[in-house]
Amino acid sequence: MTPIITTPRLTLRLPRKADAEAVRRHLDDFGVAGNLVRVPHPYLLTDAKAWLATRHPSLPPTETSFAMDLADDFSIGTVGFHLNRQGPVIGYWLGRPYWGQGLMTEAARAAVGWFFDSTIHDTLYSGVFHFNAASLAIQRKLGFVEIGRSTMPCLARGEEVEHIDTQLTRSAWMARS
Ligand SMILES: CC(C)(COP(=O)(O)OP(=O)(O)OC[C@H]1O[C@@H](n2cnc3c(N)ncnc32)[C@H](O)[C@@H]1OP(=O)(O)O)[C@@H](O)C(=O)NCCC(=O)NCCS
Repeated sequence: MTPIITTPRLTLRLPRKADAEAVRRHLDDFGVAGNLVRVPHPYLLTDAKAWLATRHPSLPPTETSFAMDLADDFSIGTVGFHLNRQGPVIGYWLGRPYWGQGLMTEAARAAVGWFFDSTIHDTLYSGVFHFNAASLAIQRKLGFVEIGRSTMPCLARGEEVEHIDTQLTRSAWMARS
């Protein structure tokens, strides 16, 4: 079951159908989508609805996404997990009006803590496109370290982009928390 996680300012919970318009509004912004691998630009309401239809409370932790609510502002961003060939990956985005307040650091920290508590995985992977200093700063704060460079497709840009690959080990996380 996708739990409800509360942090000092946020509630993380299962994404639901009613989030569609907020998800569309925030992701239909090249400044957001252009930093993500799998989000097209423009991003339509049908895209948001299709993604929300895949979110179920019974998904395993490695496929779980959380919508982020900030007081009365619901669905301001998403933090979630998926499995790739290497292992579990964390990804996240936040609507532009909410940038620069430490909110994604707060959300990602809570989600990572939940992930390690809920799984036996010893390594969580992530990374950023080479120009995404804010996201790299978040990952460094959580204990992620750079493990290499690769290229990843960016759907919104329609091209491959240099990617800084990162990982966080359970032991590094435990040492910090
Ligand atoms: C990246 C993103 C998640 C940041 O969210 P946020 O809530 O503004 O981030 P936070 O405020 O928690 O932390 C950002 C950190 O980056 C730092 N930062 C911001 N811009 C920076 C820059 N240009 N260079 C270096 N550091 C920068 C901030 O100072 C902050 O660190 P601090 O708390 O030590 O001061 C948000 O801008 C976003 O969703 N962008 C589009 C999608 C995206 O990039 N997703 C991640 C893909 S890997």
